[in-house]
Amino acid sequence: MKAIVLTKYGPSDVLQLKEVEKPTPSDDEVLIKVHAASVNDWDWCLMRGTPFYIRLLCGLLKPKIQIPGVEIAGRVEVVGRNVTKFQPGDAVYGDISESGFGGFAEYVCAHENALALKPNSMTFVEAAAIPHAAMLAVQGLHDEGQIQPGQKLAINGAGGGVGTLGVQIAKSMGVVEVTGVDSSGKLDMMRSIGFVQTIDYTQEDFTENEQCYDLILDTKTNRSIFKYMRVLNPHGTYVTVGGDTPRLFQALFLGPIIRMFSKKSVCIVNLKPNKDLNYMNELFEAGKIKPVIDGPYKLSEVPEAIQYFGEGKHKGKVVITLDGNNKT
Ligand SMILES: NC(=O)c1ccc[n+]([C@@H]2O[C@H](COP(=O)([O-])OP(=O)(O)OC[C@H]3O[C@@H](n4cnc5c(N)ncnc54)[C@H](OP(=O)(O)O)[C@@H]3O)[C@@H](O)[C@H]2O)c1
Repeated sequence: MKAIVLTKYGPSDVLQLKEVEKPTPSDDEVLIKVHAASVNDWDWCLMRGTPFYIRLLCGLLKPKIQIPGVEIAGRVEVVGRNVTKFQPGDAVYGDISESGFGGFAEYVCAHENALALKPNSMTFVEAAAIPHAAMLAVQGLHDEGQIQPGQKLAINGAGGGVGTLGVQIAKSMGVVEVTGVDSSGKLDMMRSIGFVQTIDYTQEDFTENEQCYDLILDTKTNRSIFKYMRVLNPHGTYVTVGGDTPRLFQALFLGPIIRMFSKKSVCIVNLKPNKDLNYMNELFEAGKIKPVIDGPYKLSEVPEAIQYFGEGKHKGKVVITLDGNNKT
């Protein structure tokens, strides 16, 4: 089968389209014919072997994972003998980061628990855009942020995967006043999917403004925690899904202290992959969410697509299609 193979850490030309052996599922796995996959922060970090913890997880000097790609949508071809949830022919999607990656390939094996059935009305391209970003958004807004109808929400780093799904999930929960912060080229797209107010971070620092929020969802965590606290209402919650590592540690260690001296909360999302995919299916089928797709690009274009993602030029999710179309 064809796959994008990574043999060493480095710039995007370390990724090569190669012919490799088709995988065989273990007893708890299914073999999936991949129709679409999306580019993820994992792929950008794995390719370059940075930040350093990636090397601790994936190989100190060279990557143990040879085929990147963690968000996939496709059709089950073979099921392992312990598999009970799926059968050959099922259309599925999910985040396979805990099944060893491998999504940028014609076939991949994944544990059955990493997958959900794809609704018929959702294309494979749409499905591949959902698993990771939607889980971060819903677990950030709902589980950590305890979002309530009528609240004022701000999303920092709003034009990527988490922000573009996050605004739609928030609206489905009755939150109308949503502000999105990102660069100028993304603001029109952001307004078109429901952000009521948009702020260009190259022109304005939203934490210096007078406007305060009940909930802040942050995908970048590029400021001191005290700056975020400045624009949080007295009972407000700040939730980060990721970003700058020293700032994340600051939020982790100072969050409990802030809580002791105020009514404000600081939370960090510890992603539970695929937990809420069935809920996403319900929202999708009710017409409440529709992923923003950048692409789709071809399998051979994965190196350029990962580079483009890493440079932050994308809007929504960068999706790869393996069969040149967007069929269901
Ligand atoms: N919690 C967990 O367990 C977990 C697991 C995996 C990943 N993550 C994290 O989750 C996040 C994924 O978010 P995502 O998929 O939405 O990322 P994304 O698609 O890369 O979107 C981030 C957006 O932020 C914008 N941006 C860049 N610099 C900014 C700034 N200074 N201020 C405001 N916006 C800025 C980028 O656009 P421009 O570059 O054009 O500005 C981009 O549109 C990452 O931080 C990742 O590390 C968390």
